[in-house]
Amino acid sequence: MEWDSNSDLSDDEAVSFMLNDDDDDAVGPLPFPVLQTAPCGFVVTDAVEPDHPIIYVNAVFEMVTGYRAEEVLGRNCRFLQCRGPFAKRRHPLVDSTVVSEIRRCLDEGVEFQGELLNFRKDGSPLMNRLRLTPIYGEDEITHVIGIQFFTEANIDLGPLPGSTIKESTKSSDRFHSVLSSLNPVPVGDRNVTRGICGILQLSDEVLSLKILARLTPRDIASVGSVCRHLYELTKNEDLWRMVCQNAWGSETTRVLETVPGARRLGWGRLARELTTLEAAAWRKLTVGGAVEPSRCNFSACAVGNRVVLFGGEGVNMQPMNDTFVLDLNSSNPEWQHVQVSSPPPGRWGHTLSCVNGSRLVVFGGCGTQGLLNDVFVLDLDAKPPTWREISGLAPPLPRSWHSSCTLDGTKLIVSGGCADSGVLLSDTFLLDLSMEKPVWREIPVAWTPPSRLGHTLSVYGGRKILMFGGLAKCGALRFRSSDVFTMDLSEEEPCWRCVTGSGLPGLPGTGNPGGIAPPPRLDHVAVSLPGGRILIFGGSVAGLHSASQLYILDPTDEKPTWRILNVPGRPPRFAWGHSTCVVGGTRAIVMGGQTGEEWMLSELHELSLASSVS
Ligand SMILES: Cc1cc2nc3c(=O)[nH]c(=O)nc-3n(C[C@H](O)[C@H](O)[C@H](O)COP(=O)(O)O)c2cc1C
Repeated sequence: MEWDSNSDLSDDEAVSFMLNDDDDDAVGPLPFPVLQTAPCGFVVTDAVEPDHPIIYVNAVFEMVTGYRAEEVLGRNCRFLQCRGPFAKRRHPLVDSTVVSEIRRCLDEGVEFQGELLNFRKDGSPLMNRLRLTPIYGEDEITHVIGIQFFTEANIDLGPLPGSTIKESTKSSDRFHSVLSSLNPVPVGDRNVTRGICGILQLSDEVLSLKILARLTPRDIASVGSVCRHLYELTKNEDLWRMVCQNAWGSETTRVLETVPGARRLGWGRLARELTTLEAAAWRKLTVGGAVEPSRCNFSACAVGNRVVLFGGEGVNMQPMNDTFVLDLNSSNPEWQHVQVSSPPPGRWGHTLSCVNGSRLVVFGGCGTQGLLNDVFVLDLDAKPPTWREISGLAPPLPRSWHSSCTLDGTKLIVSGGCADSGVLLSDTFLLDLSMEKPVWREIPVAWTPPSRLGHTLSVYGGRKILMFGGLAKCGALRFRSSDVFTMDLSEEEPCWRCVTGSGLPGLPGTGNPGGIAPPPRLDHVAVSLPGGRILIFGGSVAGLHSASQLYILDPTDEKPTWRILNVPGRPPRFAWGHSTCVVGGTRAIVMGGQTGEEWMLSELHELSLASSVS
């Protein structure tokens, strides 16, 4: 079984779900008489919630069915009876008497065993020898465990209409082929591990450092299910740390290490939770202190576990220039006004970014004299903390409601926004703050996405940036957008690429919304997850759509597809881009509920992506 270094099952129970290795006789009594010689799908549903939502699937389930955990968590397993992700009904070849029998067994709380036709995400048929076991709590069934022994179904149904590309051929599929070369293995064959003996003869050090450490967290979880020896190796915390570092980059791993409780959670568990997002939840926080005078249109940013708030628009459009800090490490976090010398001129509609781990950078915004294009840096840990103006040569046009992000920990990227007389911009500038005399550099591109304000820029995969949404210019009009553009800044001649769009006329690559795209919006929140996925929520959305609905996109997919992520807890009603920040890569903090004109900064909402790190 995968991902289970901290699971509730004992090691023996866990091992019983794995491919046998040579000395499997040593495995003690089995919790279920289902030991198979090939990896099984393993699903757990919540029997207390209506309609048995899935709360866990293992990597074998993901690899065999082609559905990823985040696509299926929260759903009932019956989608496997539909041919492909868009089919609405059970396929007519699925035996309805077996389905009725499952229903009866679930209703009566007894075990089910039987075989039925299922379908992979790409529409190809699979036979599923299914065993369902209800798990009793004190006096009721709390969970049901499903063990699926999948085999190929010899039915030729032809290709799924409209499907040309086989889903994801990324690294996890490399292990799919390894596993399928071992599968099916005849029951009772004592030589099941013959194909991998060569690997197992390598020393543990070579196996760990040269092979396992280079795989993705998903792959490691799968490899652990191949045999007991690999399973033991994959329980090592140092290995998991290396895997996370190789898969997500050392900067992300460094940030994750600073998250309180992360060490206790362990890298294996953290990797699993950040991959499956199974522990993601909303939670409300009440904090002390006050941000006074009250304001809106401020900017917030995290420095380690401290949230910093700068500026904003006070009463009568008064631009503010004060700095507040909220230390989330403290047992009773309180907003504290920080006395900082030489503050920048007051402003709103600016951006606040973090560079070099502890320095904050303010750029642009709207001040008393109009729009700004100045840059100020604050080292929060300096004694006393002082704002310092950086006179970056050749600055971009003054602007507000632009978007910023940090590349390589030291470079500020600024894109778009609103210039004088309300003109929207489409340029992208970079300022390398590691230089003694930083110089602004416009990134030259042959084509730019339509000019816009209120969009987000996120960094993923090291040096790639992703632009989402905003209020975009289209001819003489301006529309909220849900367009996604990416640019790889490690390329010699970086260029914008349209990934998926809302179908605005004239945009290359648009009209293929790829999944359930988030409704068009501006001033939303974008969170970059380790591994490259981007999570979107909040902002200004037209109509009755809920802004707190979470959407997730993996821009590294061959065909990036939006998915909805359902998360328990109480989300905020509003979440505006500049009033939120991401702490330690695992927590998105939304500042303040809004009642009329007032921002209540004592009320925060937190979207935590991993358990007990908060
Ligand atoms: C833990 C668990 C795992 C299940 N796994 C599968 C599965 O792999 N394939 C499948 O076709 N149905 C599976 N089911 C059954 C369906 O979820 C559903 O209960 C069945 O289709 C009967 O309900 P329905 O008539 O409302 O669809 C599973 C159910 C549970 C509780």
